[in-house]
Amino acid sequence: MSKPMFVVATSNAGKLREFQAILGDAFVLRGLAEFDPVVFPDEGEDYEANAIAKARTAADALRLPAIADDSGLEVDGLGGAPGPLSARYGGPGLDDRGRLLHLLEALSGMRGSARRARFVCVAAWASPGGSVRVERGECEGCILTAPRGDSGFGYDPVFEVEGLGRAMAELLEEEKNRISHRGRALAALRASLTQPVETRS
Ligand code: IMP
Repeated sequence: MSKPMFVVATSNAGKLREFQAILGDAFVLRGLAEFDPVVFPDEGEDYEANAIAKARTAADALRLPAIADDSGLEVDGLGGAPGPLSARYGGPGLDDRGRLLHLLEALSGMRGSARRARFVCVAAWASPGGSVRVERGECEGCILTAPRGDSGFGYDPVFEVEGLGRAMAELLEEEKNRISHRGRALAALRASLTQPVETRS
């Protein structure tokens, strides 16, 4: 039997790699680069609404089923920031490295529970016919005082995974995908997609 196919609605190469590694055995995944450009709406501050908007926009524009995620890093000492705004934390001129250095600076002088943090991911699947599936995953940890490791992407070098004593960027790709927020959300989505789909009006 041929594998179901969907478009992965992300332009983040790190995320796309993880989607492939987590779902590639069961589904054929196609990246946005294979299609004419899709214009996505501006993101708000709600993971679920953002994830659904991305998947729905791609599904409607390309007339193909699509999946997307919205994710972020929530730090207790910053009142849960940067959260859904993680990709833009510190302003538009920063890259991944600049953002994590900005985070370390914001937390300088903070210790213990103030450095507690979690990665959050909401993954959504949408079909051109109007069906939607949504799943959430979280991964607890704390923010290190200096970057460690060089795998993964984004804030991985400054996030120590609870119970492992290692930075996310020190894990092998398959180790990260087993325990990460995205790994958990996509595993749940995968299970959900093997169930009959309900249609939302
Ligand atoms: P968005 O979901 O496209 O809004 O971007 C989420 C942002 O959160 C990314 O650009 C990263 O900065 C951060 N982020 C999300 N997931 C991860 C992860 O697995 N590792 C490191 N940073 C992440």
